[in-house]
Amino acid sequence: MAPGNPGIAEVARCLPIGVAELDGLVEAAVAMAADLVVIGPEGPLVAGLADRLREKGIGVFGPSAAAARLEGSKGFLKDLCARHGIPTAAYRRFTDADEAGGYVRAHGAPVVVKVDGLAAGKGVVVAMTVDEAIAAVDEALRELRFGEAGRSVVVEDFLVGPEMSFFALSDGLSSSFFATAMDYKRLGDGGVGPNTGGMGAITPHPMQTPELVEQVMETIIRPTVAAMRSEGAPFRGVLYAGLMLTERGPMLLEYNVRFGDPECEALMVALDDDLGEILREASGDEAHASLRAPRWHRGAAACVVMAAPGYPESPVTGGEISGAGDAAAEATWVFHAGTRRDERGGLRTAGGRVLDVVARDASLEAAARRAYAAVAKIGWPGEQHRSDVGTWGKP
Ligand code: AMP
Ligand code: GLY
Repeated sequence: MAPGNPGIAEVARCLPIGVAELDGLVEAAVAMAADLVVIGPEGPLVAGLADRLREKGIGVFGPSAAAARLEGSKGFLKDLCARHGIPTAAYRRFTDADEAGGYVRAHGAPVVVKVDGLAAGKGVVVAMTVDEAIAAVDEALRELRFGEAGRSVVVEDFLVGPEMSFFALSDGLSSSFFATAMDYKRLGDGGVGPNTGGMGAITPHPMQTPELVEQVMETIIRPTVAAMRSEGAPFRGVLYAGLMLTERGPMLLEYNVRFGDPECEALMVALDDDLGEILREASGDEAHASLRAPRWHRGAAACVVMAAPGYPESPVTGGEISGAGDAAAEATWVFHAGTRRDERGGLRTAGGRVLDVVARDASLEAAARRAYAAVAKIGWPGEQHRSDVGTWGKP
């Protein structure tokens, strides 16, 4: 694991190499003759880590830089959807602030402004007024608040409906359905307060049906995999489609080329299968017949994120964490996100989102109850979490 944290250090050997240190990561993988490197976050994928490992003959779970553009460039994704008839909101692309402003005024609100490149989850503004939309355009194109990532923006129609996180695997040629989840994006109960990276997740999504899964595979996932292949950038790895279930059917809001956080934690607990084998098949680096459907725990999994005070605007870190070591129980896991060990071996908060507490059970309600029983044992000054994970309607 590179670089890892005190949580995973209990089960893995951690190497002090950051996710942006591509040379060091390649060197380490070669030195240990790794069978398979699983690349978690989008940064190194977009920067070409998978390409560099494959050049060395090392198996990789994760897309090439060219295929990671599905997440790394919103404009690339929208144009691909347009060329291949994949359902998504109508849009225009701009690099000039005056032109974008003119379009926004003519279009009217609500309207959505997205910076083209990676912006750590802060690049999307759902503008309820024309002024808000113009401000978002100006921040990106005039003030260059997002640097290079924001030199180009997508302005798209506002869609309405429940959201669903939809996960599929692809080896570049074929694809298979993996799972659905629901992400609790807002800080506060009932879906109020600022947007966050995710304050909780449940899997499966309560609206998952076999018919909906097949519809999304048929209209969105398989056309994407075919399009990437036909355009010379076959996609290998996990496609995480952010969907809006509109009256006109499921529409694609965005792609991530990774498992999602905190969705990943819920998915890993719900999985009743050999993860290594599944990821190796989807690496596309060795011959196999076709991707098989994974086996899942009967019931559901729920993940509650415990965050530092001040998250998401300005998290205050360094708080002493109590109870985390003892909170894991039957069918309950405590994953670390932003933690560190202090000089005396104590556990401290070291990031905005600190711990992910996940449980599984026969029903969503029971899974959530189990997770909250563990959350109740853990604490630090100013700790915050949502108390409605597992109920839904306004995530
Ligand atoms: P992020 O996860 O930060 O990229 O934010 C994306 C969020 O913005 C989605 O989860 C939606 O809630 C919202 N969003 C994105 N595109 C649209 C759209 N076309 N219409 C309405 N909401 C959108
Ligand atoms: N939870 C949303 C994401 O990982 O992008």
